[in-house]
Amino acid sequence: MILKNRVGLITGASQGLGKAFAEALLKKEAKVVICDINRAQGRVTKEEFDQRYGPGRTAFIACDVTSQSQLKDVFSKTVQKFGRLDVLCNNAGINNEKSWEKTISVNLMALIQASYLALDHMRCDRNGKGGCIVNVASMSGFLPAAHAPVYTASKHGVLGFTRSLAEASRLGNYGVRINALCPSFVNTPILDTINHEENLGNFFQFKDTVKHLMDVFGVLEPSVIAEGFVQLVEDDSLNGAVMKITTTKGIHFENYQPKPASQ
Ligand SMILES: NC(=O)c1ccc[n+]([C@@H]2O[C@H](COP(=O)([O-])OP(=O)(O)OC[C@H]3O[C@@H](n4cnc5c(N)ncnc54)[C@H](O)[C@@H]3O)[C@@H](O)[C@H]2O)c1
Repeated sequence: MILKNRVGLITGASQGLGKAFAEALLKKEAKVVICDINRAQGRVTKEEFDQRYGPGRTAFIACDVTSQSQLKDVFSKTVQKFGRLDVLCNNAGINNEKSWEKTISVNLMALIQASYLALDHMRCDRNGKGGCIVNVASMSGFLPAAHAPVYTASKHGVLGFTRSLAEASRLGNYGVRINALCPSFVNTPILDTINHEENLGNFFQFKDTVKHLMDVFGVLEPSVIAEGFVQLVEDDSLNGAVMKITTTKGIHFENYQPKPASQ
């Protein structure tokens, strides 16, 4: 996909990785909708982008992604404002083992809901113009983590959903590419959640195991993950791909076993 004048919608883009993804699209001359529950930070980020990339290229729409009606509204407003939708990045995420239902709700259920809404707008077999969806999972989509069982389950779920929907898109000729992005530790505010019992609940006692892993493997900068994100969006050959980004191997892809020939 050539990004110039295309439109991207990124959830959880007021700060952290989502903000880096939004900026990467703006650098490619796309237009961007920042969608986030954090209004104050969302407005600050929009203002910053207006100054850096010119007014009219970025919109901020406040939204709690766990609200179906608010999410629907974001898609309508995006198309109203910019006339089209080409890229959805499901990035909003939380790490809360105490409110574990909320973690599943934000990290997995809202991602599924937003993917379906994006397909309604993009599907070529239903008069859409095609597009691409990037779902932000994590290396926690592959590995067990004693400090965060439900966060880990949500990210495993994101991978299964992404790969299955990508297969449906291929078989059903939706014309929409759906890929997943799995960063290891990245320097954003979410990392601080491991320091708080109110986030880890019963699993707070295992916080040092994850701190040890951070010391061993290091912490990446959001700009590195944004490079991988842009690759997933631009490379038209990628559908159902699972990109991993780690300090040791950089940007690389998970090699899954080929499916049996009968399927
Ligand atoms: N930072 C890391 O180490 C790391 C590693 C792997 C994966 N991830 C994933 O990357 C994504 C982005 O996280 P981040 O590291 O930038 O963290 P972050 O906490 O900086 O950003 C998350 C953003 O999501 C928003 N958000 C939370 N709940 C929301 C809701 N209900 N509706 C709308 N917006 C909501 C927050 O306001 C925030 O702006 C998450 O899915 C996270 O799981 C992060």
